[in-house]
Amino acid sequence: MPLTAADCARLDAGPDAPAFAALRERFAPGTPGTVYLDANSIGPMPLAAPARVQAALDAGWRVARRRSWNEFDWLDQPRALGQALAGVLGAGPDDVRVGESTTVNQYRLLRLALTLKAPRRVIVAERDVFSSNRYAAQGIAHAGLAELRLVPQADAAALAQALAPGDVAVVALSHVDYRHSLRLDMAALTAQAQAAGALALWDLSHSAGAVAVDLRGSAADLALGCGYKYLCGGPGAPSFVYAHPRWQDAAWPAICGWMGHADTFAFEHDYRPAAGMDGFLVGTPAVLANAAFSAAADLWRGIDPALLDARHRSLTDTLDTLVAQQCGALGVEVSSPREHARRGGHVALRFAHAGALAQALVAHGVVVSARKPDALRLGVHPLTTTHAELWQAVQVLRSLLEAGAWRDPRYQGSSV
Ligand SMILES: Cc1ncc(COP(=O)(O)O)c(C=O)c1O
Repeated sequence: MPLTAADCARLDAGPDAPAFAALRERFAPGTPGTVYLDANSIGPMPLAAPARVQAALDAGWRVARRRSWNEFDWLDQPRALGQALAGVLGAGPDDVRVGESTTVNQYRLLRLALTLKAPRRVIVAERDVFSSNRYAAQGIAHAGLAELRLVPQADAAALAQALAPGDVAVVALSHVDYRHSLRLDMAALTAQAQAAGALALWDLSHSAGAVAVDLRGSAADLALGCGYKYLCGGPGAPSFVYAHPRWQDAAWPAICGWMGHADTFAFEHDYRPAAGMDGFLVGTPAVLANAAFSAAADLWRGIDPALLDARHRSLTDTLDTLVAQQCGALGVEVSSPREHARRGGHVALRFAHAGALAQALVAHGVVVSARKPDALRLGVHPLTTTHAELWQAVQVLRSLLEAGAWRDPRYQGSSV
């Protein structure tokens, strides 16, 4: 039976409707009539975010100036934000800190893993992993600090082969593939890496805040992810970083800075790492970015990961079905896995002209993204997207496909 608009309305009126309506109201609306399916790039804005930034600028920068460091929570933000995210990441309450970019955190966790597992010096990564993760590893190898071993994909067989020589320090994987949204089995692959004496490092950029993640339950060693995608930290928001408690005090961090010193304002001559995750702090926190992020953090503190996961499943199952039913004969194929447990935050479509089609969709009020060569990404945010919006988006997609809109010269330019 094909899904109908009425079915989508019924799904939006289900037993969780009041809870999700209340959550949606805590986000600022975008342009009326526009459907935003871009949470895989930049998540929606919490209503409270502008006032938080304004307060940091006004009461902080303008009025209190340097007194702000004592009068406000500026120095504590990396810890407070991390604590707010812990639940949705399945981390312990003090296992997470927020700071630096995802790429910088990838670099420093790789370096930490190499230190922890010395003299092993091999990094295993996926060949087609997000470019910046590969570049971070290549840079470490180029400096002569490691050897990079790329696997075609992170399945058990490919990993077994890569791990066989017994020289691997760390297996660095993306929980969800940024193109086609394949979600890996974090517990199984972590266990496989650890059984071979390696650490497992996870990039959660395309799962954190979209689906339930279980860092402690899967025994992952190290993890990080973008703050600006599903976590709604704001444009350019800092990344989060996680270390399992068994590693938090096991070595000096890869970048030692005064904020990660055991006694920052003693200005001691020699570095001494702060205990636990505080050792992962580096320099002065990005106060304005953290102020924006704090609005989302307030939301995450109260979210039940199981409810989030169920909502995401309902939405992405609906989208998957609608696309297959209405657009399957028009040359697009749903390329993300059908099973929710194997799918990440976005639903992906394979289409040879994905870039042009994405631009046509954006021009027609459906904000999506594309990645070369052929991935069209529809990033669904469980706290704001509705089933009715998905219906609307798929009607637009179908009409553009029927009209061959991707051929229009206006949509041929490159786009981020
Ligand atoms: C999976 C993944 N890892 C890393 C990054 C890079 O993050 P950043 O630019 O914050 O360093 C991105 C950016 O989109 C990403 O999708």
